[in-house]
Amino acid sequence: MKWLLLLCLCVYAVQCSDYDDDDEEDKPKPVKVFDPRGHRPLDKKREVYNPVRNAPPPISGGSRYQGRPTEAPVGRQEYEKQEQPDAGGCTHASEEMGELCPTGCELKSAIVKQERNVKGEVSKLQKDVDDLSRSANTIYNYVDGMSNALRERQLVSNENGDLVTRYTDDLETQHAFAKEAITTVFPSNIRILQSVLDKIRLKILRVEKAILAQKDGCQEPCTVSCPIPVVSGKECEDIFRKGGKDSGMYLIQPDSFYQPYKVYCDQTTQKGGWTTVQNRMDGSVDFGRRWDDYRRGFGNIAFDVGKGHCSNPGEYWLGNDRISQLSKLGPTEILMEMQDWSGSKVYAQYRQFTVQGEMTNYILSIDGYSGNAGNGLLEGASTLFGENRTMTIHNGMKFSTYDRDNDNWTPGDPSKQCSREDGGGWWYNRCHSANPNGRYYWGGSYTRNMAKHGTDDGMVWMNWKGSWYSLKAMTMKIRPFFS
Ligand SMILES: *[C@@H]1O[C@H](CO)[C@@H](O)[C@H](O)[C@H]1NC(C)=O
Repeated sequence: MKWLLLLCLCVYAVQCSDYDDDDEEDKPKPVKVFDPRGHRPLDKKREVYNPVRNAPPPISGGSRYQGRPTEAPVGRQEYEKQEQPDAGGCTHASEEMGELCPTGCELKSAIVKQERNVKGEVSKLQKDVDDLSRSANTIYNYVDGMSNALRERQLVSNENGDLVTRYTDDLETQHAFAKEAITTVFPSNIRILQSVLDKIRLKILRVEKAILAQKDGCQEPCTVSCPIPVVSGKECEDIFRKGGKDSGMYLIQPDSFYQPYKVYCDQTTQKGGWTTVQNRMDGSVDFGRRWDDYRRGFGNIAFDVGKGHCSNPGEYWLGNDRISQLSKLGPTEILMEMQDWSGSKVYAQYRQFTVQGEMTNYILSIDGYSGNAGNGLLEGASTLFGENRTMTIHNGMKFSTYDRDNDNWTPGDPSKQCSREDGGGWWYNRCHSANPNGRYYWGGSYTRNMAKHGTDDGMVWMNWKGSWYSLKAMTMKIRPFFS
């Protein structure tokens, strides 16, 4: 009897696990995980932690820009007739122009990987269902046997009268219960499981079809053309002042010694003039990249959603050389905007932002926080205390990637590298309170078990959502500071 009940419970549990419908959005789970990670606690016996880094202060003082003149009457910008085709996505055709066209190839490989997992799960589930059907049969036979035994006993009881009546009553109750279980509860549970399986199969079929279509699309580098706006400038503020007042892709040339390159200009937020240096929004670009990629920049600058020009930003990292160069033109401010999976938005803004050159491994200096996301970059994670919090400050840190360890976690020890564990290139300390280039987790909440190294490697901003919530969108933009 006991194992019968147990089986009932098992079936019930499987039935209750949540398989969402196709049209249903993946909802963020309302679980709050109060388990601040970010830091690497000190082993007092063997380690010392030195929080001090000799970093130059960020560039401050007079700007090359005066305040904005009041609304110059400038007409809408025009776009050049000549179109500049770019290869992008799978292959990188013209490097200095930046990669432009997202083909979804990276997305594809992510899906393929997932599909492999799902297939395993399904065949396991199928086996479970088969086992269940088999044991249901066994039980059926058992109960059948019981029915016969009962009938015989009833005969006996009729002969022996009251002596066995009480015993038989018990047996009959149990028998009725078991019979009910095998004739209605079990089959219906098995049916439910079967339909869950069928649904998953259908989903996989659809994914397979999508992948096939994607494979075709990725045979050759796609060519999407982005007309280059006529207006160009040193950076997006310059472009704004020259009349480029629509957000979109522009060509900039901060310095006449360097080739012009493409960036996405945000010309609306806080009156515009922002050069986007980082953007995440759908996980279509892999940010777990090596030093050279972070130095040169990677990803898709912008794309066209059918308006005839590239007005939507893609996922990209502008490149440490370019970011450094732009930030050293003069006093520069940075705006980091982020969004969670329920659509809430917060931001962190720093009035001063400077990134040194590659010679010093791109040391970060920032100051002058405002905003509502929390000042992790300067003060560390507010959920940590003492030394632990100090370990998560980013100001004054060098840039690290998985193949170039410049962090402040036992320098020189190859087994202690923040970037290896936390998923992206960043100004890691020991290790982070913010991880904007971390792994992209669909849906927000994730767990230790889902992380590659058990660390909080998501797109994390600890002072807003803690260590175990990965944001939906994140963007970093810079602008010459002017009063
Ligand atoms: C630092 O973190 C470790 C483990 O996370 C904890 O045991 C220790 O008490 C923390 N120290 C402080 C000062 O909070």
